Amino acid sequence: HMQINKVCCFGAGYVGGPTMAVMASKCPKQTFVVYDINELQINKWNNKQYPVYEKNLDEYINQTLDNNLIFTCDIDIALKDCDIAFLAVNTPSKKYGLGAESSLDISYIDSCLQEIKKYPLTKKLILVEKSTVPIKTCDYINAVLKDKNICVLSNPEFLAEGTAIQDLLNPDRVIIGGTIEYAQQLASLYQQWVPKEKIIFTNIYSAELSKIVANSFLAQRVSSINSISIICDKIGADVNEISQCVGSDSRIGNKFLKTSVGFGGSCLKKDLLCLIYLCESLQLDEVAQYWRQVYLLNEFQKQRFYNLIITSMFNSLRNKIIVILGVTFKANTNDTRESASLMIIQKLQEEQAILRIYDPQGKIDKLEQYQSLDGIFQGASAIVILTEWEEFTKIDYAQAYNQMAKPSYCFDGRNLLQGDIMKSLGFLYYGLGRI
Ligand code: NAI
Repeated sequence: HMQINKVCCFGAGYVGGPTMAVMASKCPKQTFVVYDINELQINKWNNKQYPVYEKNLDEYINQTLDNNLIFTCDIDIALKDCDIAFLAVNTPSKKYGLGAESSLDISYIDSCLQEIKKYPLTKKLILVEKSTVPIKTCDYINAVLKDKNICVLSNPEFLAEGTAIQDLLNPDRVIIGGTIEYAQQLASLYQQWVPKEKIIFTNIYSAELSKIVANSFLAQRVSSINSISIICDKIGADVNEISQCVGSDSRIGNKFLKTSVGFGGSCLKKDLLCLIYLCESLQLDEVAQYWRQVYLLNEFQKQRFYNLIITSMFNSLRNKIIVILGVTFKANTNDTRESASLMIIQKLQEEQAILRIYDPQGKIDKLEQYQSLDGIFQGASAIVILTEWEEFTKIDYAQAYNQMAKPSYCFDGRNLLQGDIMKSLGFLYYGLGRI
């Protein structure tokens, strides 16, 4: 059995940073080097201005930074005598050419492979796909690095933004796909804090596919409940009650059954589209259409929400002040990638509304935002809630109402507030799938 002493990770983003910080704290005998080509990103980690907001992340960085955790832009520091290298770089939807807007772009993975190809490895390197990759990327890696002394494993990451540290400390499962001899070496790291029975060994394609499937199932649950919210709006049933009634069935479970303005984030949509693309490339049209509908319903839900805003306000938003609460794709993260807010803000701008935007952590590029809620409601015609930040439940809405123009609207894209209370304050309140 080879002794693992040194681990490196390509990519110091939402996954690479928190994952290596937790691993370093749980595996004090190993050294962890996080490598990124973006110097700004590396400087932020080293200067404790974390590019990622996650609860308790600072605690794990403080414990380990400059101890057994290093952030660097120097490939030599990363790969010298390295035993295991994680690939945790971004794999966005491909923006060009064949499979544009649906297949995953592995060009960042590719650039990592080129670095490794150039580097004079002195011992066997276990190369781990931590990024979510298209099926059979492992074959591609093996082909590119066929002259190098490497072995590829697939070890997809299942952390959720907003609860990343908790998820890393106590994962539901750890999946390791690939040659068992090397898979066990990687498992020896996880076994330092993850119970043995939670580590699942699979073949490498199953591991790759399991991540795409897990995210597609999550997306499917969101679209399923959102489709029901649309029915509820027509018949006067309450989708929150439906979620409770249906979710109490232990075969179904109550998680991921909350209606919203639609799923966002960097993963669900792109991974779902990746599955659709896989089906299409395998000429499985019925299967592709089944999953495509999950995606289309999400787009429809977003569209439905801004239509609700615009039509309720009599198609006349020009020069009206609208307060946007929340730009992140969910609470407790600073990530705004693929957030429903992006599309809704754009639509409201097209209607020439005056937007006042606030989020406790998130910042959209090139968009002016309020730093606090101070004065934000003065003279506003509407409040639009797009993220379920707890802070938004604690607003004094009676006071807000007094400061707002009349009529005062509230469009709650997360069903975060109690509709009857908002209505009794005088608001014209609209949730999703509720009377
Ligand atoms: P990110 O965009 O936050 O971070 C990726 C980092 O990789 C960036 O800092 C970028 O500069 C760096 N990078 C790009 N090319 C590089 C190269 N050649 N060498 C070194 N560094 C390079 O991405 P994020 O969100 O951390 O996602 C990474 C992967 O993990 C993706 O495949 C994603 O699908 C997957 N994933 C993401 C989750 C999430 O919640 N964000 C959860 C589970 C998986």
